[in-house]
Amino acid sequence: MTTTARRLGDAPAPDTLDPAERMSVDELRALQLGRLQWTLRHAYENVAHYRHAFDAHGVHPDDCRELGDIAKFPTTSKADLRDNYPFGMFAVPQADVRRVHASSGTTGKPTVVGYTEGDIDRWSDLIARSLRAAGARPGQKVHNAYGYGLFTGGLGAHYGIEKLGATAIPISGGMTPRQVQLITDFEPDVIMVTPSYLLTIIDEFERQGIDPRSSSLKVGVFGAEPWTEQMRLEIEERMDIHAVDIYGLSEVMGPGVSQECVETKDGLHVWEDHFLPEVVDPLDATPLADGEEGELLFTSLTKEALPIIRYRTRDLTRLLPGTARPAMRRMQKITGRSDDMIILRGVNLFPTQIEEIVLRTPGFAPHFQLELTTQGRLDALSVRVEARHDTTPERRAAAAAELVKAVKDGIGVSVTCEVVEPDSLERSVGKLQRIRDRRTT
Ligand code: DLL
Repeated sequence: MTTTARRLGDAPAPDTLDPAERMSVDELRALQLGRLQWTLRHAYENVAHYRHAFDAHGVHPDDCRELGDIAKFPTTSKADLRDNYPFGMFAVPQADVRRVHASSGTTGKPTVVGYTEGDIDRWSDLIARSLRAAGARPGQKVHNAYGYGLFTGGLGAHYGIEKLGATAIPISGGMTPRQVQLITDFEPDVIMVTPSYLLTIIDEFERQGIDPRSSSLKVGVFGAEPWTEQMRLEIEERMDIHAVDIYGLSEVMGPGVSQECVETKDGLHVWEDHFLPEVVDPLDATPLADGEEGELLFTSLTKEALPIIRYRTRDLTRLLPGTARPAMRRMQKITGRSDDMIILRGVNLFPTQIEEIVLRTPGFAPHFQLELTTQGRLDALSVRVEARHDTTPERRAAAAAELVKAVKDGIGVSVTCEVVEPDSLERSVGKLQRIRDRRTT
């Protein structure tokens, strides 16, 4: 690692933190309980879905007397939002909804989410808080390459950049040569983008003969898709920036539900004054203790337009004690979504596990796809990975053999590896789709 000292990220001055970031655990828990009780009542009184679900479950908002009582309430899933498409989960009159966003929804109907003026204000505050934790400061310039539109990434980040008192450069995703031009000409301090698209931008710098390490950027705030510690090293090395993680999802708010602090880079602090996290067994939703890995659930604590109770994110992680913000628990970097888990001959495998191996194998570029096919009666997985420009044919063959062995030894399953030409795999301009499923059964 050669990140230079001049770019080292400092912790924000304590007097610039939000009051909630400095609370004791007791103060925070008391705040959460009051807000949780308000949210449960608000949802029950204003959303037919919650009224029916609570009644069917035999619980009432008055049954919540302590935070642990949340486990008595039913969970909410994406299907519930789809069933109430488009606005059935909203808890305020339409005239009070200032904005909607929607998830792309690869199949069927998108999920629609809404925000009151107050919701947008709190969301902007949380993005500003997240940016500060990432090392951004008022007065800096932020290149925002998250997609603008129905996706929450672009506009969500945008309002927070302005709220921080920074300058927003609202470029959105795509037009990669232009991204490089504007980074070079406008000299931003911070970039917000998916990690996979940042790799595309780094490649474009190199294609234009510009050293990406020479850019003005100091910090990258990367999220919207899983990425590994190995990817952090790759990005920090190739761009000479700090790479920190931002997490969120539309149903819970958008980006800014949790954020990694630049001075510790040890997982993401959940902004617990606004969201109550839980981790449960992904199979039957049984609550798990902090430290145990499972599916992450969130209950919103301050949302007006779309209160969300025990939302099943499908993201897998565990809750850890606070560090840089002592009272706020951290979530470990997401290892994957239960939806993205590949079960190959009985062995569970996540794309992030392959990412780690690809990135530590000399000769491979950080671009790969996973192709699932049917061979006979069995599923087969092929890793298609790009060679770096300077990789010799001998090194390519050796790298492929190393990857196959590392997957077999480390994960316990046989895969094949196809090394393809540099720049030949499709590039992401937003969220990356790693898996190509060509199974016939
Ligand atoms: O991706 C919101 C977002 C925008 C987060 C920009 C960060 C930056 P959705 O499109 O609803 O919202 O997708 C949410 O993306 O459940 C995770 O599976 C995944 N995801 C988001 N952030 C991360 C992250 C936005 N930092 C889904 N690490 C979530 C891993 C992430 N996965």
